[in-house]
Amino acid sequence: SLVGSEMCIRDRYKDAVFYQIYPRSFCDSNGDGIGDIQGIISKLDYLKDLGVTAVWLSPCYKSPNDDNGYDISNYRDIMDEFGTLDDWKEMIDGMHQRGIKLVMDLVVNHTSDEHEWFKQSRSSKDNPYRDYYIWRPGRGKNGKKPPNNWSSRFSGSAWEYDETTNEYYLHLFSKKQPDLNWDNPKVRQEVADICNYWFELGVDGFRCDVITYISKTEGLPNGKFNPIICGDEQFVIGPHYHEYIHELNQKAFSKYDSMTVGEGQGITVSNAESIVAEDREELDCIFTFEHQEADAFMTVIPKKFSLKKWKTIFSSWQALPDNCWNSLFIENHDYPRSLPRYGKLEYRKYVAKMLAICINFMKGTPYIYQGQEIGMTNIAGFKPKDYVDIVSKNIYKIAKFFPPLIPVVVWALQKRARDHARTPMQWNAEKNAGFTSGTPWMMVNPNYKKINVEEALADEDSILNFYKKINKFRLGNKIIKEGSYTELLHDNKKLFVYKRELGDKIYLVVCSYSSKCATFKVPEELKDLKSSLVISNYQSTPAVLQNTKILPYEAFVYELTK
Ligand code: NOJ
Repeated sequence: SLVGSEMCIRDRYKDAVFYQIYPRSFCDSNGDGIGDIQGIISKLDYLKDLGVTAVWLSPCYKSPNDDNGYDISNYRDIMDEFGTLDDWKEMIDGMHQRGIKLVMDLVVNHTSDEHEWFKQSRSSKDNPYRDYYIWRPGRGKNGKKPPNNWSSRFSGSAWEYDETTNEYYLHLFSKKQPDLNWDNPKVRQEVADICNYWFELGVDGFRCDVITYISKTEGLPNGKFNPIICGDEQFVIGPHYHEYIHELNQKAFSKYDSMTVGEGQGITVSNAESIVAEDREELDCIFTFEHQEADAFMTVIPKKFSLKKWKTIFSSWQALPDNCWNSLFIENHDYPRSLPRYGKLEYRKYVAKMLAICINFMKGTPYIYQGQEIGMTNIAGFKPKDYVDIVSKNIYKIAKFFPPLIPVVVWALQKRARDHARTPMQWNAEKNAGFTSGTPWMMVNPNYKKINVEEALADEDSILNFYKKINKFRLGNKIIKEGSYTELLHDNKKLFVYKRELGDKIYLVVCSYSSKCATFKVPEELKDLKSSLVISNYQSTPAVLQNTKILPYEAFVYELTK
C-alpha cells in the first residue's frame, strides 16, 4: 500500500519485534539438508506464538552460494535449494495473515560474478554492461600490480585480475562478489527497479547489506597503510553515499509503506544523525557494531569482555537525538553466539534471560536471531575441517602458510567464527535436531538433545517462554518506546544499571554480568518511590525495590511511581 502520512511510517517499526531467519539453517522441508521456504512456512505459527511482528530474512535469491546467498546471481527469483517464487508468495501471505511483516535482505554493494550483468561486463571493454562494475588496469611494470592497495574484507587484495580483458575488477568481499559501480546511473536505476519489484509483490522493507560501502572516492586512491585491512576511508560513507541513498529512497522506499534498516559499518554516534535522521529521507534505521567489539579486535581477534566498554557504547547510542532510531541486537549470522561471550555457560539460562532484559528495555527495535530465543551456543571443540564459512576457511588457509600461527587461529576461530551462529536450528531432540531428515549442510551442535525448541516450549521457565513474556510486555509499552534513558552506577564492575522514564513512571533495570554475587544499593533519588517488580530471571528477587544481594547474572526490572 502507498504511504499516507510520513509520520506514521516510523511508528510502525518502532513497535516491532524482529526475528532474523538465516534460511539455509532454519528448517528443511524436503530432506536435502538445506533449510527452505516451505520449512519457514511450517514454522510461522511458532513465530507468531513467540510474539514477533516482523521477520528479517537473510538472502533467498538465486545464488551460487560462495557466501551463502550474499552473492546474488538473479535478484528476481528464489534460490533453487530454497524453493520457488510461488513458495515465497505462500510464505509472505502466511506471514501477513499472522500480522508479521517481511523485510528482505538487499545485497547491492556487489552481485555474484555469475550474475548476467557481470558475465556481460567481463566479456569485453566495450560491452554495455562494462561500466556496471569497477574495472581498472593493473599498476607497475607490465601492469602486474593491483590498481590500489585496498584489501578485501574476506582477506587478500580487493582486486582480481581477469584475463579476458587484461584488467582488474574490484571486490570488497570475495572474488565471486564483484562490487557494483554506483556512479553509473543505470546501476542505481536497476537497484530501484529491484526494490520496486519486491514491493509490488508485497515485501515490507529491506535490510541493506554493507550499504555504507556503495560510494567510492573518485580515482580510487590508495588507503592509509594498515597491515590487516586497507582502504576503508576511501569508501565507508563515501562522497556520494547520501545522494545515492536519497535517490533510492525517492525512487523506491518512500513510495511504499516500507521500512529500511542499513548495515551500518563505520557509523558512529557522531555521524548517525546524518545517516538516519527522519528528515533526510534516506534510511529509517541502522545496525551498528561497536558493541560487538567489547570482546574483540577487528571482529576476529578475541579479547576479554569489557563490561565498561559495553555499557559506554550502549549508553552512547541510547542518547541519539529523537529524530533517530536504534536497532537493538546482540546476535546475527556474522557473530558467534552471545553464549558464552557475555556470561558463563554453566549459567546459560540466567545469562540468556539477563541479556534479554538488558537489551529489550532499551529504546529501539529489538531483533532476535534464530536460536537466540532458546539459548543456542557456540560449538565446543569445532575442528578446522568443520568450518564451512568462507571467512573461516580463508583465515585458516592463511595460517597454513605460517604453521606456527595455526594454534592461534584455531583458538581465535573457536571464539569468533561466524560458523557458530549458522549451525542448524535445534527444533527437537530427534535426529539432526529435527532440522532435516537428510544430511545437514553443516554440522548440528551436539548439544541439541538438551537445547531445543520442543524442550523449551514444555518448560515454563525456559528462555523461550521468557522471550515470549518480554515480547508481549514490550508491545505498545510507551515507557520502553519513548522514555528517556539514563545510565546509573557506571563505575560498578559487575552491574549494568539504567532507568527509563516517562511522565511519573520509571523502569529501573539492573543486570549482573558477573558469575559472582554482587550487592545493589538503591540510588538515593529512587529510594522513596513506590515500586513493584516487573520481571526477573530469579524467583527470589524481592517484590519491592530494596538494597539487595544480587545472584550470578541476576537481572530485574522495577516499575517506580513518582
Ligand atoms: C554482511 C553480511 O551480513 C555478511 O554475511 C556478508 O558476508 C557480507 N555483508 C557481504 O555481503
